[in-house]
Amino acid sequence: MEKNDSAISSSGLYSAELSQFEFNKLSNFIMTEYGIKMPPEKKIMLQSRLQKRLKALNMNNFKDYIEYLFSPHGMSEEVIHMMDVVSTNKTDFFRESIHFDFMLETALPHAVKNFNTRLIKVWSAGCSSGEEPYTLAITLSEFIENHHGIDYHILASDISTKMLETAVNAVYKEDRIADIPLVLKKKYFLRSKDKNQKKVRIVSALRNKIEYVRINLLELTPVRNAEYHFVFCRNVLIYFDRPTQFKILSALSSNLIKGGFLFLGHSESITGLDLPLRPIIPTVFSKI
Ligand SMILES: C[S@@+](CC[C@H](N)C(=O)[O-])C[C@H]1O[C@@H](n2cnc3c(N)ncnc32)[C@H](O)[C@@H]1O
Repeated sequence: MEKNDSAISSSGLYSAELSQFEFNKLSNFIMTEYGIKMPPEKKIMLQSRLQKRLKALNMNNFKDYIEYLFSPHGMSEEVIHMMDVVSTNKTDFFRESIHFDFMLETALPHAVKNFNTRLIKVWSAGCSSGEEPYTLAITLSEFIENHHGIDYHILASDISTKMLETAVNAVYKEDRIADIPLVLKKKYFLRSKDKNQKKVRIVSALRNKIEYVRINLLELTPVRNAEYHFVFCRNVLIYFDRPTQFKILSALSSNLIKGGFLFLGHSESITGLDLPLRPIIPTVFSKI
């Protein structure tokens, strides 16, 4: 097939092909602006994810799409939709549950004892559809039940507006919470009135504790006034190259107060990076 040709596939579905030239243009842009690695083997993945955007825009080839994307309007509007489909959003409630056990048993008691604060501040950076910040909210709520006078606030950020919308909505399929202990389900999830719907919603007491903001981690710069006791940035750095990881981690660490903790995903590390962090347990670091 010729470059930019569109076709009806054997399944009858519309498809457009991304040429090598177009792929290079898009992958360079995504890498430079968002730090997300887009090696040649991701070409088919990018093509199939962006086909959804072509369909939504009623376009039948990538040439028109790229022209629109790089226009002033595209750069303010389409780029957000493009990043919605490009980013990988896999997440879960109590994902890597060891972190939440560590919070409850070690990190939160440590914070109350040493941080001289009545408001515990947590940042979930790369929060996807909200399962991580809500798990944090459940953990913190359980903790403050036995620590009167202590409250918490969670900042949850992501680059994807679509994911943030889902997070704010806080409605999930019931099977997403199948593994959560019944006692927590009863306390923190509301069942849909229509039982056939098989949906649950997070209670407002937790929703009200979380502020959702769209933040591109690549645009972060170090701050002077650290205010967070805990920063979770899990399963996000894997998409970036090492220099970008360093830049993001430097900025995130600057937001952590001394003695605060940074939590990374199971396959992420700070090895070889010159950061003011010391390891506590695997994937958990303390700000020096
Ligand atoms: C795999 S999910 C991880 C979600 C959650 N932290 C967890 O561990 O379950 C990665 C998230 O990072 C977000 N992300 C990717 N690039 C980003 C960037 N440059 N700035 C902010 N968020 C980004 C994606 O939109 C996605 O929601």
